[in-house]
Amino acid sequence: MHIQLSEEHLMIQKAARDFAQNELKPGVIDRDEKQQFPAEQIKALGQLGFMGMMVDPKYGGSGMDTISYVLVMEELSKVDASASVAVSVNNSLVCWGLETFGNEEQKQKYLVPLATGEKLGAFCLSEPEAGSDATSQRTTAVDMGDYYLLNGTKNWITNGSSASTYLVIAQTNPEKGSKGINALIVERGMEGFIVGAKENKLGIRGSDTHTLLFNDVKVPKANRIGEDGFGFKFAMKTLSGGRIGIAAQALGIASGAYELSLAYSKQREAFGKPISQHQAIQFKLADMATEIEAARLLIMKAAWEKDNHLDYGTSSAMAKLFASKVAMDTTIEAVQIHGGYGFVKEYHVERLMRDAKITQIYEGTSEVQKIVIARSVLG
Ligand code: CAA
Repeated sequence: MHIQLSEEHLMIQKAARDFAQNELKPGVIDRDEKQQFPAEQIKALGQLGFMGMMVDPKYGGSGMDTISYVLVMEELSKVDASASVAVSVNNSLVCWGLETFGNEEQKQKYLVPLATGEKLGAFCLSEPEAGSDATSQRTTAVDMGDYYLLNGTKNWITNGSSASTYLVIAQTNPEKGSKGINALIVERGMEGFIVGAKENKLGIRGSDTHTLLFNDVKVPKANRIGEDGFGFKFAMKTLSGGRIGIAAQALGIASGAYELSLAYSKQREAFGKPISQHQAIQFKLADMATEIEAARLLIMKAAWEKDNHLDYGTSSAMAKLFASKVAMDTTIEAVQIHGGYGFVKEYHVERLMRDAKITQIYEGTSEVQKIVIARSVLG
């Protein structure tokens, strides 16, 4: 057993930390307030090679491992979870899905600009009536010979108005249930594809979350990923890796709140000494540090399993379940340690607390992670 980051990992971690502190932190409160997508910062992250981190360099990616991806996600999320979710969706769901299951033509046409950061991707599974119950897709992709006729609505789509390439999950053969579902590559600008209303959210307010509408969109057959009926498995396999990214986001939110609390507790005085000298605060800091470390180890195990081509479906669900709870618990305590200052925007922890909640909801709620874990332990 060897748990140590390599020199290269440390360099990548530092690059992400510097970017987060220098480029994301300055405008983060304002973007949260105005619900403004960090478009310029996402472009810059593409130039750093962080939008297609794990993609083979022959398709424009950086060829890094999943451990590096976790390190980058943690550092970015300490400061700006709205930016990091765009990074996560592009890397884990869109690029990984296309590289692993797309054909050569699809990779050249769609993966290369996504991996270089020239374009941004979105993953479209959730619907008004199909969230956790993802097999109940109402969006239809009717086989018309050369193309699919796509009709329906997708909800809560991350990168909804900023993306150019959308992976859309839709039902082709309802009688076949989960085996009748397809994954289609839809381009921005295809006739009948409309970006609908933007959500006004509790957290990750800088992330552009939209409803998408598909009205008789003609999607060429060449844009189907994998064999006919592979769409549900495509979504589930892709989400297994995506959950490592969201777990790392939750870890970053927690460790960001912890670092702020540690610094604040040393500087803020009450009853004649820094509050860090009071046992009530020390116990909170000790719990935070321990839980964050436990979450980090679970996430690194899932990442290591993925890099070593082992089955990581259960460990990624465990990592996300645990890390998202740690994010919620830690940020609530961070606000408490900051007292009145924690309740105002300038001290960042109230935003981290609002952002933490979504990590227990997207890419499968905590209850969905428990379903995945229970099925595994029960065999
Ligand atoms: N890998 C491969 N195949 C899988 C799989 C996986 N991880 N999970 C399921 N499958 C297969 C099953 O083996 C089964 O195939 P067979 O019929 O051949 O045996 C088929 O898929 C159907 O599976 P289930 O019967 O298990 O399906 P279910 O209806 O019981 O659902 C579920 C299981 C785990 C609850 C699933 O629906 C699920 O994960 N739901 C949550 C969806 C989700 O995470 N949505 C997130 C949206 S994306 C997002 O949030 C992105 C963002 O914006 C940040």
